[in-house]
Amino acid sequence: WGEVGHRTVAYVAYRYLSLNTQVYVDNILNYHDGRDIGDAAIWPDQIKYGRPYTAPWHYIDARDSPPTLCGLNYPADCGDKESDGCIITALHNYTTLFMDPKTHPLTRQEALKYVIHFIGDIHQPLHTEDAFRGGNEIPVCFRKACSHHNLHSVWDRDIVHKLVGIPTAATHEQETKAAKDWADRLVGVDANLSLLKAECDDVVDPDQCSLAWARESNAWICKYVMKPGLEWLSSNDLSLEYFDGAVPIVEYQVKMGGIRLAAWLEAMIARAQSMQ
Ligand code: ADE
Ligand code: ZN
Ligand code: ZN
Repeated sequence: WGEVGHRTVAYVAYRYLSLNTQVYVDNILNYHDGRDIGDAAIWPDQIKYGRPYTAPWHYIDARDSPPTLCGLNYPADCGDKESDGCIITALHNYTTLFMDPKTHPLTRQEALKYVIHFIGDIHQPLHTEDAFRGGNEIPVCFRKACSHHNLHSVWDRDIVHKLVGIPTAATHEQETKAAKDWADRLVGVDANLSLLKAECDDVVDPDQCSLAWARESNAWICKYVMKPGLEWLSSNDLSLEYFDGAVPIVEYQVKMGGIRLAAWLEAMIARAQSMQ
């Protein structure tokens, strides 16, 4: 996701956290300048260019070929080389590092930011797909503009911006405000609901939950994201009917990302506290 998607996942999650966990998260992030969990969520993208080895941690490249062959194979699809890793192993590693009492406080702070970011990215369907480098190599048009747009960036940003009602080139302030408002709407009336909806019992444990979430995210590739085929995707303006069909998927994925991130943080922080 772009900034709005990541911030919204983080704000939704924060609303579902217990007070104890909210305070714990705020203490670790240690911001004193108005920044918040939304800024933590976008940090791994801001430092990616200075740390190129972290780039493969933002996705898992399912190599079955949509729209005919679908599905995610693990660990085969995790990284070009095993040493590169992927979003599943990166989330696992940073969760483990976070909970280890020997971890340096600054490393623990970074680990928390990575966890917040990766659970968001797992919920962007194209971050679970290899085809055309997760859609980066499929040129498309959106709101009549055909340059600087590809299927991946349309799902990361353009669909989200149109959905929340801000321009493609929005200011940072517009993006932050839009994310807060969208999170409020997604949480809606069921903010007090239990985190059962994370649909996973032992969130931080083995890679079960993150892999199940990645598979659910990847399933949208064949069901919708790449279903129309290359030809259609590249010759239609995706801000029209394609946008309409994408909206409920994006809203579901972002809301579930937030709920699952909350469940993950609750479990991870409870375990970290019990190990201290
Ligand atoms: N590079 C290769 N695969 C990718 C993906 N699924 N998302 C983003 N960047 C990628
Ligand atoms: Zn992306
Ligand atoms: Zn990312």
